Amino acid sequence: MIELPDNTLRIHPEDFLNATDFCRYFHHPERPLEVDLGCGKGRFLLARSGTFPEVNFLGIDRLLTRIKKIDKKARRLKRENIRLFRVDGYYATTYLLPPKSVSTYYVFYPDPWPKDKHHHNRLFNEPFMNAIARTLKPGGALHASSDHLPYFETIYALIKHDDRFEEIAPFYPAEDEVSDFELIFAHKTPGRCSFVRK
Ligand SMILES: C[S@@+](CC[C@H](N)C(=O)[O-])C[C@H]1O[C@@H](n2cnc3c(N)ncnc32)[C@H](O)[C@@H]1O
Repeated sequence: MIELPDNTLRIHPEDFLNATDFCRYFHHPERPLEVDLGCGKGRFLLARSGTFPEVNFLGIDRLLTRIKKIDKKARRLKRENIRLFRVDGYYATTYLLPPKSVSTYYVFYPDPWPKDKHHHNRLFNEPFMNAIARTLKPGGALHASSDHLPYFETIYALIKHDDRFEEIAPFYPAEDEVSDFELIFAHKTPGRCSFVRK
């Protein structure tokens, strides 16, 4: 993998099947790595990384335009603890992130794909949970939320019935951390859940 002059990471094709030590692309590789999966427009990532400068934050999204916009803002804010990676989240968690390398995952408002015939596009399923379980450190947290309550119920049941995880009190973002999509759907109360890797 190479690092660009900005905060975005690009991967060489020959590295596409190898786990990558993402920590080495931060100024302080020894610090905990937290991943915002499907970081969208980055409101949460930008606020959270400012509040916790001692944590390394990796924002992952498959839309390049969103990644580029967050990068611009991160540079303007001189935020040194953010790195951005345009990649499919399922691919990154399954193949690229090393085992037990992530301290926290945030998965806020994942695309709900409400129609039955599109459910196969959803991020949360058993293979995805295997990837999360593989890459989270013991004691590491997974925080999820969704305004689409049927999808939230599916997410919650999937994790709740997984013996590798233990439920904890749900994570509530601080006011400045509320994600872009949570702001858009502020009229709806989202489902939220949090679990730790045993
Ligand atoms: C509904 S938005 C939520 C964004 C942000 N988490 C928030 O709460 O504002 C979902 C985001 O996930 C991204 N996304 C959807 N599926 C993805 C996948 N498989 N891998 C990476 N990003 C994905 C989309 O591009 C979009 O930016």
